[in-house]
Order: sequence, then structure tokens, then C-alpha cells
Amino acid sequence: MRRGDPPGQDELDPIERVSRDELMALQLERLRRTLDHAYRNVPLYRRKFDEAGVHPDDCVELTDLARFPFTTKQDLRDSYPFGMFAVPREQVVRIHASSGTTGRPTVVGYTRNDIDVWADVMARSIRASGGRPGDIVHVAYGYGLFTGGLGAHYGAERLGCTVVPVSGGMTARQVQLITDFRPGIVMVTPSYMLALLDEFEARGLDPRESSLRIGIFGAEPWTERMREEIEDRFDLHAVDIYGLSEVMGPGVANECVESKDGLHVWEDHFYPETVDPLTGEQAESGELVFTSLTKEAMPVIRYRTRDLTRLLPGTARPAFRRMEKVTGRTDDLIILRGVNVFPTQIEELVLRTPGLSPHFQLHLTRPGRLDVMTVRVEARPGFAGGPEAGAALRHLVKATVGVSVEVEVVDPETLERSAGKLKRVIDKRITSDNR
Ligand code: DLL
Repeated sequence: MRRGDPPGQDELDPIERVSRDELMALQLERLRRTLDHAYRNVPLYRRKFDEAGVHPDDCVELTDLARFPFTTKQDLRDSYPFGMFAVPREQVVRIHASSGTTGRPTVVGYTRNDIDVWADVMARSIRASGGRPGDIVHVAYGYGLFTGGLGAHYGAERLGCTVVPVSGGMTARQVQLITDFRPGIVMVTPSYMLALLDEFEARGLDPRESSLRIGIFGAEPWTERMREEIEDRFDLHAVDIYGLSEVMGPGVANECVESKDGLHVWEDHFYPETVDPLTGEQAESGELVFTSLTKEAMPVIRYRTRDLTRLLPGTARPAFRRMEKVTGRTDDLIILRGVNVFPTQIEELVLRTPGLSPHFQLHLTRPGRLDVMTVRVEARPGFAGGPEAGAALRHLVKATVGVSVEVEVVDPETLERSAGKLKRVIDKRITSDNR
């Protein structure tokens, strides 16, 4: 088999084979310990619990968690740099930080044991993606304060793989290394995978002939259409990985290669809920909220991720719930003349339009009193029907999303490529009076 085979039952961690009841019993025990740890050691949690009139002892069942207050990114910012740590700083062996677009970065810390757990869940994620000990893993997520590179790195080593720590950027060299070292697995953002794809083709190499069998893609939203695009053009399994620094980094949830039906949340370490983003009430689908169950250095209690998804029962790992592919973040939502639009909706439609490439940007402007969104999208190389394709996309967006947009079809290779997380939306509506 050229692509990745799923692991057999005997290759799984014992925890991956427990029943839902056994898992929930473990979660409750760990949750109670975490609430107590946070309350005793982090002043912010003590204050918030006291204000809400709850105490860790009030958590008798898992559902009692809903009585505890949320934690937000603002709480983490206000505690900059080390105020969220629940252990003496000397026990923190690693720091990561996410820059964000505005304000202070969010700092996170790990004890030695936290790093160990992270490597374990990342190893589990790579194996769920079809990886095996002995595989060569090309890591093109950025190394540094971003959790992608080092998270993937430690997990691949833990699984027993040969790691190639390339980090992001220098696209020509990436392709050279893939050609020479013949990795079976690549770990990279889906948008940068597209840049690698172009580089293969620019060099006259057939991506389908490359050694890659599995791609583990995350750190930004991507759609089923994008999965098809990458799988077809590379002849590999494209598998989704999710995570965020505040909760740990990549490896909070991962798809299983045999089902590719959403991401199994590694619930023995991260307890998920979904809430209505406006009211905070429990909801079937909505904003994802996480409580860490084993973290020592920086436990998080009901952390509001701003990511939108839905929780579903487990399939390939029956005890573990799945989250649907993330549609977007609450802050990515574009409200265009009263209509809600997520960039992922436009991605689906761009990829359904013959002649259009997956490289596109969304430009928001306010020429008069109304907002205008222009989809600037590259034609596929050799395609001459730009204006027709533009009209087709405009029509599709109107018919499916219900809003009029402008479409500008540009030549191949004209839009900027990103080596890490993609910036899809370019918002030029900010004026001096609403800054
Ligand atoms: O992006 C961690 C990561 C690295 C995940 C590599 C997967 C692979 P942050 O920089 O803290 O951490 O950004 C976290 O990225 O809240 C989501 O909005 C988004 N995100 C991460 N994975 C996915 C995914 C890393 N698979 C934020 N699908 C999260 C959609 C994702 N969005």
C-alpha cells in the first residue's frame, strides 16, 4: 500500500481502547485534581472561582464543570508573562508564546511532565494519521515560540520516527530535501503545502511520484475541497491536526486516517465542551472550550478557544468524541452587509470553480458606506478563461452564501505565499474613526 495504513488495535495506546465509561471515570478524577491545583496555585483562578461562588469540591460529576467560570485570552494577557503558572518558575522547562496580531503575546509554560504528555499525544496523533516507527518525518511547521515545529518534532521522535527539522520557509530547499531524503510524512500548514506543490511543478517534478504518503495539516482552517485538491495532486492521505498553544499546542485532536471524519479529541488530557459564543450556554455546536486534565505548569479551566465546531461521538476511537473540522474562528467571521461569511466557505467555492487555483485572498474595503469583499484569486497555470471563471465564482457565492462579492482573477504566482499560518483576509476597512 502506497499511502498510510491505519494502526492495528495492538499498536494503539491502551487508553485508546478503553470504554467511554472508563474514560469518563478517569476524566472526573483528573478534572477534580486540576480544579484543585488551579485554585490552590493560580491567584486568577482562585479569584474567579470565589467570585462565581464555586469551589473545586463542588465538582462531583463531569457536568458540574459547567458551573465554573470561563477563562479567556484576555485573562492570559492580563497575567503576562508568568502569572498563569501553577508551579514555581524553576519547574517550567519550556516557554512558548503566540504573537497574536495585537497586544501582548500569550505566554504558556510546560513542566518536564507536560512536555512528556505532549510528546505522547503528538505521537498518538501521528500514528492515528498512519505514521509508524521508522518513518521519516519532514517537519515544515515553524520552530521557535510557535508550538508547531517543536510539538511535531518531539512527537515524531517519541513515536520512533526519523525527524527532519526543516521549519518553514526556503521553499526550494524544502523540495530538494523531500526529493533527497524521501520522507513518507510531511507536517506543515495546508497553505504552505500548496506552495510546496507549486515548487514541485515549477521544477518539472511530478508531486504524485514523491515519497510522501501522509500529510498532517493544521494550524489554520482548511476544507474538504482542499483535502481533495492536495490528496489528488500529491497522491497522499491528508489528515487534520488541531491544537492551540494555550491548551498545549498541536495534538489536542487529530483525525484517524481510516475514517477522516473529524478529529478525535484526546479526551484523557483535554476535556472539550461547545458553548453558544454569545450566551456561553452549552450548545450542540458553537465555540469550543477546553479544560486541561493533566497539565501541571499551566492548567486551563474552560478556556474559550473562539474556534467554531461541533462535538460528535467517536468512531475510529469509540471512547473519544470527535470535533468537526473547524469552520473558522469567531474573529474570522466576516459580516458583509448583514450576511455572515467565513473564509472557508469561499475556499470551498473557489475550489469548485474550474480554472481557479486554491491561492486566493479576501480583500475588504469600504469605498462608500457599504463594505465590499473582493476575492482575488489566481488562475490555474495555462488557464485562459479568467473572466468566465471569475463570473462563475461570483455566481456561486451569490447562490450559496447569498451575498454579492467582486472577483478578480489574477495570473498564477502573483499572490504572496505564506510559509506558516496563512493570512487570508486583508481588511482595509479600518479608518481613523473606527480604529
Ligand atoms: O496553531 C498549534 C498547531 C500547530 C496546531 C501545528 C496544528 C498544527 P496557535 O498558534 O496557538 O497554535 O493557534 C491556535 O489555530 O485556535 C485555531 O484557530 C487554529 N487552528 C489550529 N489547528 C487548526 C485546524 C497552533 N486543524 C489556533 N483547523 C486555533 C482549523 C486550526 N484551525
